[in-house]
Amino acid sequence: MKIGIIGAGRMGSALVEGLLRAGIRARDIWVSDKDEGKLERMRSLGVRVAPKEGVLACEVVFLAVKPKEVREVLEGISGFRNILVSVAAGVPLKEFERLEGAKLFRVMPNILCRRREGAMALCPGRADARSVKVVRELLSQLGRVVEVEEGQLDAVTALSGSGPAFFARLLEAAVEEAVRLGLPKERALELAAQTMRGVGGEVLEGRDPEDIVESVASPGGTTEAGLRELGEVKPLRKAIRKAWERARELAG
Ligand SMILES: NC(=O)c1ccc[n+]([C@@H]2O[C@H](COP(=O)([O-])OP(=O)(O)OC[C@H]3O[C@@H](n4cnc5c(N)ncnc54)[C@H](OP(=O)(O)O)[C@@H]3O)[C@@H](O)[C@H]2O)c1
Repeated sequence: MKIGIIGAGRMGSALVEGLLRAGIRARDIWVSDKDEGKLERMRSLGVRVAPKEGVLACEVVFLAVKPKEVREVLEGISGFRNILVSVAAGVPLKEFERLEGAKLFRVMPNILCRRREGAMALCPGRADARSVKVVRELLSQLGRVVEVEEGQLDAVTALSGSGPAFFARLLEAAVEEAVRLGLPKERALELAAQTMRGVGGEVLEGRDPEDIVESVASPGGTTEAGLRELGEVKPLRKAIRKAWERARELAG
């Protein structure tokens, strides 16, 4: 199966790298971008570079340009009947409906698709059962896929689309403080990252986050003292809400 990607920026290149790591042959990945520098990088990975029209011949085409660039890409497309997967934040499925005969999907992925640990929310639009299966199977090679309704995608954008940046900032802050307390940065990074990964693993296995909190925080102990300072983690709540608002603005 040939896979096309229009837009080889941050998200598009993460998809390409994830697909390559998943064992998809470089010659089956076709990429188009405006920026010659990005195309050069794609060539260095062995993937094919082509104008938009060439990429549209692929069975599955990811649209990974900025939301405001989607219209421009759609202009002049005719006769496209394959699978189109838009990863553009905020751009509704109805924007793509004039592509008659195309099977349409919105997906909110994240940058961690690069290492096949992406968190992805899939929302099928006008698509047959076979196409849904194809897209599901393809995405599941890049990480974890959940299906959501279109109205929930902006919340996904805020939570897991932008999430890697928010969680990285939390990790960074924790590490900076530990370094101030005397830990070498490398050690602190390793310990903090492993802790974050472990918490994620526990939760994915079904453990309630509150249960993790309770199992660490003994009365009168160090964790309890720290948790009192942390409170409701308001800045993170505000960041998620702001990102959600921005996704809704992009939807126009
Ligand atoms: N970055 C993330 O973590 C993330 C996560 C989830 C979803 N997304 C979504 O992914 C999409 C891309 O985001 P990004 O962060 O990857 O943006 P980006 O780094 O700016 O990448 C977009 C790329 O598309 C190229 N492009 C623009 N118009 C084009 C056209 N007509 N044909 C071919 N290529 C074209 C751009 O080239 P120029 O630079 O020359 O304009 C740029 O290289 C957005 O819609 C975003 O909502 C991103």
